[in-house]
Amino acid sequence: MKVLGIETSCDDTSVALYDSEGGVAENLVSSQVDLHDHFGGVVPELASRAHLVNLLPLVEVLLERQQLRLQDLDGVAVTAGPGLIGALLVGLSTGKALAMAADLPLVGVHHIEGHILANALTAEMQLPAVVLVASGGHTELIHMPLIGRYERLGGTLDDAAGEAFDKTAKLLGLPYPGGPQIDRLARQGTPGGFSFPRPLQKDPRLAFSFSGLKTAVRTAVDGLPRPLEPQTVADVCHELQEAIVDSLCAKLFAAARKKHVGAVYLAGGVSANGRLRERVAREARQRRLHFVAPDRVYSTDNAAMIAYAGYCQLRAGRRDSLDLDSFPRGPIVSWA
Ligand code: KG4
Ligand code: ZN
Repeated sequence: MKVLGIETSCDDTSVALYDSEGGVAENLVSSQVDLHDHFGGVVPELASRAHLVNLLPLVEVLLERQQLRLQDLDGVAVTAGPGLIGALLVGLSTGKALAMAADLPLVGVHHIEGHILANALTAEMQLPAVVLVASGGHTELIHMPLIGRYERLGGTLDDAAGEAFDKTAKLLGLPYPGGPQIDRLARQGTPGGFSFPRPLQKDPRLAFSFSGLKTAVRTAVDGLPRPLEPQTVADVCHELQEAIVDSLCAKLFAAARKKHVGAVYLAGGVSANGRLRERVAREARQRRLHFVAPDRVYSTDNAAMIAYAGYCQLRAGRRDSLDLDSFPRGPIVSWA
């Protein structure tokens, strides 16, 4: 079965082909980072316009490279939400048009399900598991007994983990998106120079809070001489990353304990973070839990994860009508 995936929920235009016989055959991502960098964050209207310009040419390139016609496919999977509504609409209407033109089944995929199933593109998932989804818009703990069944255990009370990386990076004068910058600079940082809070660590809830970090970083750097020394920036990045990773790890393993699962997974853009992968790998080993970090190309937004999630749904006999709507927010839903 060959499934075309389309992902346009935020600032990456991506199309992919998942083939049940060979895995991911194609995963094309056109990043808009340069477009939004100047504004220090994603400008929704600019994102929609760029998707509109880039999406169909990307589909054409994919088909040409694969020597396929639209009619040779077995389905179209498209991110229906959550995300920027205008950006989602470009992907959804394109997906519908392609499905209609070639009389192919259409499935709408929840963006978070895509991120979770990105793990299955790296190695077969061991289930039941607890998955920590951490991206620019989400920080959630999901209990997953099987593919297609998801139970939300808790999440952030305010900012998402990726937002904490991006907002504090902005404070430090680093370019957007901040996560990869902080990941890189933190390696040169020396521990102990700064101290940032780890909220809710003693709270029994499976919840996160990251909004206070921005204030803590601002307070810490406000009194420092300008321009900030590169070593000082690296030291702040180091401690900031430790604070975020400590918070994420503590609740991920608390959730795994609570649900008595044998495996944990990471999903979403923040799962590309080197320190988070290292810490989760070490603590999972100590607790004898199975863990394989997702391939980095499938950590951040991509259409391969959407194509694969669509394939799982189509294989189970699910399909959507052309009335399918996009949605800016909403919890992950089970279909199995
Ligand atoms: O999943 P994603 O590509 O888009 C959303 O659905 O939000 O996640 C983007 C987020 C951004 O906040 C970005 O800063 C963060 O993932 N991110 C990272 C790293 N790479 C991307 N955060 C920490 N370390 C990284 N290496
Ligand atoms: Zn995402």
